[in-house]
Amino acid sequence: MPHMITTGARMTRRAVLAALTLLGGTLVVTGLPSPTGRSAGALEEGLTGLAHRTLRPLHTGEARAARGVVPLPPPDISGAAGGAGNKTLMQALAARASTRSFREDAIPDQVLGNLLWAAWGVNRPDGRRTVPTARNRQGMDVYVVRADGAWRYDGTAHALEPAADDDLRPLLARQSFVATAPLTLVYTASAAEDPVYAAMHAGSMYQGAGLFCASAGLGNVVRASYDETALHAALRLPADRRIIISQTVGWPRN
Ligand SMILES: Cc1cc2nc3c(=O)[nH]c(=O)nc-3n(C[C@H](O)[C@H](O)[C@H](O)COP(=O)(O)O)c2cc1C
Repeated sequence: MPHMITTGARMTRRAVLAALTLLGGTLVVTGLPSPTGRSAGALEEGLTGLAHRTLRPLHTGEARAARGVVPLPPPDISGAAGGAGNKTLMQALAARASTRSFREDAIPDQVLGNLLWAAWGVNRPDGRRTVPTARNRQGMDVYVVRADGAWRYDGTAHALEPAADDDLRPLLARQSFVATAPLTLVYTASAAEDPVYAAMHAGSMYQGAGLFCASAGLGNVVRASYDETALHAALRLPADRRIIISQTVGWPRN
């Protein structure tokens, strides 16, 4: 039954704001029975609870066309949504491997939302993430590079903010498969962050994303070979952000 977001789970102000942002100001949330069979009380986990609800309307295509903020479908923790990944953690670990041959098929928004949440999503009402950061400084950002442009992932809103209108994949394509693979994630860090910590954080992020890929049957490869200067400029990154690493993702060709 539709209900106001504030009448459901106990949520912090930040989580409520995030959820409102996620909804683009629309307060309608449709509560669904938890696919995992957990009680309604189990949904009292702030943003984690959003994973068990359907938000509407998303107007994703229109927002993208207008180059506005694109809300992503909430992370599907249950694995019920198509292609969301159903392998257990141990099965995903067994399947983890680098892939360098991808089909060009687009990644559905639900899968992209899951992937980004695995890499850098908020998983608790206090705004903490799926990966740890030193002193919880959270100085990382992940960018999505696709044929139709580039976006910064806003994990708090679970949405994409436009960063560039062009296909920047050629700037990443020192290996030719990258120019046609549907998606590359670019991990960036605050220049103020200790470089060792920044590398650790990026490693946690690409491993989370990589394990989601293995779970969902997606291929991925972590890649350090790209034109960093050109990419920094094309993504319009502030001078105080550094590119740490990239990760190309897509459905494996074989
Ligand atoms: C920091 C880092 C940088 C990497 N850079 C590249 C790269 O530029 N191009 C590439 O094809 N693979 C790259 N890889 C992937 C490794 O080559 C790959 O993980 C390694 O060969 C082991 O294979 P596996 O991932 O299938 O176990 C990189 C991996 C890491 C962790």
